[in-house]
Amino acid sequence: MPVVKVTDLAYGRLQSPSLDQAEEFLTHFGMTRVERAGNALYMRGTDRGSHIHVTHLGPSKFIGLAFHVESEDDLKKFTKAPGASGIENIDEPGGGKRVRVTDPHGYQMEIVWGFKPLAALPVRRHETNWGEEKLRRAGKLMRLERGPSQVKRIAHAVIMTQGAKDKIKWYREMFGFVPSDEVYAGPKDNIIASFNRCDRGETFVDHHTFLCFECPNTGLNHLSFEVPTYDDLMLGHEHLHQAGKYQHVWGIGRHLLGSQIFDYWKDPWGRVHEHWTDTDVLNVHHETKLHSAEEGLVSQWGGHPPQEFITHAVP
Ligand SMILES: [Fe+2]
Repeated sequence: MPVVKVTDLAYGRLQSPSLDQAEEFLTHFGMTRVERAGNALYMRGTDRGSHIHVTHLGPSKFIGLAFHVESEDDLKKFTKAPGASGIENIDEPGGGKRVRVTDPHGYQMEIVWGFKPLAALPVRRHETNWGEEKLRRAGKLMRLERGPSQVKRIAHAVIMTQGAKDKIKWYREMFGFVPSDEVYAGPKDNIIASFNRCDRGETFVDHHTFLCFECPNTGLNHLSFEVPTYDDLMLGHEHLHQAGKYQHVWGIGRHLLGSQIFDYWKDPWGRVHEHWTDTDVLNVHHETKLHSAEEGLVSQWGGHPPQEFITHAVP
């Protein structure tokens, strides 16, 4: 049995040399500022909930991740885990409580509970007359407002590591992740990528919330954020392109494992942030599938990942 079963990713914590530049990028990327407090920046999506992205001022660095748990009881249970802190009050927007632990890579992992929820933000809706439902927009015209994507929520994080097959076990034991898909290279026990979701029983959840990939470099490969529609993702792509100062990494395409339509961009310090829409959702009845790298790490459309992305890891 895992120590706890987390229910979702809460936020990623990065360190950046300029909060102004960080906020500018994240705003172009489609998030909204919650607070600039002291030496930290807190950004949110449109969903109800709390901030989904934290930036501390300092040299560029990946600090770690936070995951939601269901109850204060889970926090108590987690304090018994090897290396875990006691329960701490979070002195940040939304308050709440957390327990911290250092992962096998030295990153700070938090489990969090009890935030004062933020109200949802209004979202521009894009109705389509696609497929079998041709009357969704009956009598109405499609007129899209240009601008950044509307990031809904943070969805997943990918850590590059050596010995991914063993490293992922720690996260499963601590946080209750279960593998949706795994990818091997050469012999079948040589796992080079592990796609893990939250274990919520019958409840359907995103195909993956946390991934480990085999790589000569250690660090964060990317943080990933859900946007509401394909149009929204395309508008965000154009907006980031027109900003003229951000590096596009990969996309637009549709993944095989997870099936999301994706688009990847680098922030000013090379940390990759992904937009996606339309994921597979799975529950306890999904059996883990094993794929060769040739079968598994491909796009359904939109081209293969560039070599630069496959080995991308920021410490
Ligand atoms: Fe991703």
